Amino acid sequence: MGPGSDMYRQQILDHYKNPRNYGELEDADVEHVGENPMCGDTIKLFIELADDGETIDRVSFIGDGCAISQASASMLSGELRDMSPSAVREMDRNDVVDLLGVELSPMRVKCAVLAEKVAQDAIAIHLAGKADEETRDVRKRCPARGDIL
Ligand code: FES
Repeated sequence: MGPGSDMYRQQILDHYKNPRNYGELEDADVEHVGENPMCGDTIKLFIELADDGETIDRVSFIGDGCAISQASASMLSGELRDMSPSAVREMDRNDVVDLLGVELSPMRVKCAVLAEKVAQDAIAIHLAGKADEETRDVRKRCPARGDIL
């Protein structure tokens, strides 16, 4: 355990007790809920994109779960702001574990990455919907091509 781990533990507790960006975003472009199947803890994430769709403008979450899962959602909600959807998809578990700053058992890593998984699934769903929309637009613009697709 590193010398700064007490500070990180305090920080985790603070995010757990006073979660940042907590609540629902009414105009969210994406909403997605995920749970840790091992315990049933949940996080629902709300993401609002900038008008050009290239960056995340606002993020909020609601959730119910252990201190690590809720604190990591709180910390991640701040990190996601101004990120591009593709950068979110490229995040890996170490990014969140580094945010927490403490050593975690494999079980606790699952708690820590719940919010990240929800964010990545949310973005994947959003991008799939967008691709679907674009395909429909192409078909609308090119009815003949649409017939043979
Ligand atoms: Fe359920 Fe941590 S114990 S996410």
